[in-house]
Amino acid sequence: MPSAGSSRRPGAVEGGTAERCRGNVTCTPHVTGRLLSTATMDRWRTIIEPFRIHSVEPIRLTTVEEREAALRAAGWNLFNLHADDVLIDLLTDSGTGAMSRDQWAGIQHGDESYAGSPSWFAFRDSVIDLFPFRHVIPTHQGRAAEKILFSAIGGPGRTVPNNTHFDTTRANVEYTGADAVDLVIPEGRVPSALHPFKGNMDVDALERCIEERGAANVPVVIVTITNNSGGGQPVSLRNLRAVRAVCDRLGIPLFLDACRFAENAWFIHEREEGQAGRSIRDIVREMASLADGMTMSAKKDGLANIGGWLALNDDALAEQCRNLLILTEGFPTYGGLAGRDLEAIAQGLREVIDEDYLRYRIRSTAYLGEALDAAGVPVVKPFGGHAIYLDARALLPHIPPLEYPGQALAIALYREGGIRGCEIGTVMFGRHPDGSETPAAMDLVRLAIPRRTYTQSHVDYVIEVVRWVAERAAELRGVRIVEQPPALRHFTARFEPIG
Ligand SMILES: Cc1ncc(COP(=O)(O)O)c(C=O)c1O
Repeated sequence: MPSAGSSRRPGAVEGGTAERCRGNVTCTPHVTGRLLSTATMDRWRTIIEPFRIHSVEPIRLTTVEEREAALRAAGWNLFNLHADDVLIDLLTDSGTGAMSRDQWAGIQHGDESYAGSPSWFAFRDSVIDLFPFRHVIPTHQGRAAEKILFSAIGGPGRTVPNNTHFDTTRANVEYTGADAVDLVIPEGRVPSALHPFKGNMDVDALERCIEERGAANVPVVIVTITNNSGGGQPVSLRNLRAVRAVCDRLGIPLFLDACRFAENAWFIHEREEGQAGRSIRDIVREMASLADGMTMSAKKDGLANIGGWLALNDDALAEQCRNLLILTEGFPTYGGLAGRDLEAIAQGLREVIDEDYLRYRIRSTAYLGEALDAAGVPVVKPFGGHAIYLDARALLPHIPPLEYPGQALAIALYREGGIRGCEIGTVMFGRHPDGSETPAAMDLVRLAIPRRTYTQSHVDYVIEVVRWVAERAAELRGVRIVEQPPALRHFTARFEPIG
């Protein structure tokens, strides 16, 4: 139950409107003894988790020596660790959250009929309640939706603009021979730059890119909400409308990579002019109405451990995608998922738009960021919704990008404190399809917070370990790669420390 470390509320953006009282709600403290409304929780500094713990999972405490041995065995790649050797696992927020009582009840309701399962209809109805696209195509996770979409519309000579492609999105675009181009606003590339919607697409750059490549060679424009690779930063409705206008003018479909749609909607609700009085559902539906389709990983804001979907309006494209789905994922009413998974997602989508949940989610992530920022650790600001990103390039200026400062920092956090984060930098993005290598735009370590999983003492421990490592940053050394696959190398590459 994180409490705010300063008098400024976590999540507040300088020059933004996060602090303001909302609509018909009074922010004046009162002691009338009435039931506390949701909004009156804003009176207290303590960020209360809107749930109680119902079942617990043990975690194993390990020594520095044990972790050092685990690192060697893993080729200094944290993806290769045995998860039992990890104390606090912040590798990803994908599929790692705790499900609710009602989601587990949904699992019991799962109907495993091959075709036309009631669980499929529950899933479909939940999806179209938020994203009313004509076709919903279930997949086992987000990248399967990407693979199907880009197999259908990608190919050599084509270009796919995005605010920032996530690693699997980029890989799936490039695998078809198409170019993946990142066009986030300039502030989105500067870790310390403050902007309430730092995930926004640079609309002028988008227009220039489409003109250069030719509209006929741009099969889709993607907007990733929130912008994971750029620090979990949100995209405003205003920006989405401007991108929509460009797409309309040039006749190009607009798709959302909507993994963290609810967190994005919460930021819109808190920060965008005129949005504070609207429900999260309403904002999500407006985001959907501006797009022609979406890819989704339900492992994030579906609050589920597995699942995803592709949704779209274009009938012919949908048919082509369904045929591809049948080849690799399964029949169109289950698409690589069990009926029970479909039920868990259907319920998760109802829970994720709950304002109490989203307020806790965003504020508790900011709690970690505020404490590190106050301690002088360079972090991406404003704080993202699902993760805090450490700026390894700023913290370790003595390690050049091609000696992977992000990887060096991630290794140190694990070695010292058993904390597993994820390098998002030159290891992940530095290598190009032709085998050449250049520094990525940023070298970050992402500390992703699994949903509804860790408590304040876990987070306080993370703060203590990160501070300890940051105070000794000058002692850290870079790493070199000794083995790597041709694509998505961060998952399986092996490293060794330099010096
Ligand atoms: C923005 C974004 N897009 C796509 C994906 C891929 O989703 P999945 O891991 O379910 O394949 C992720 C996963 O982290 C993501 O963050």
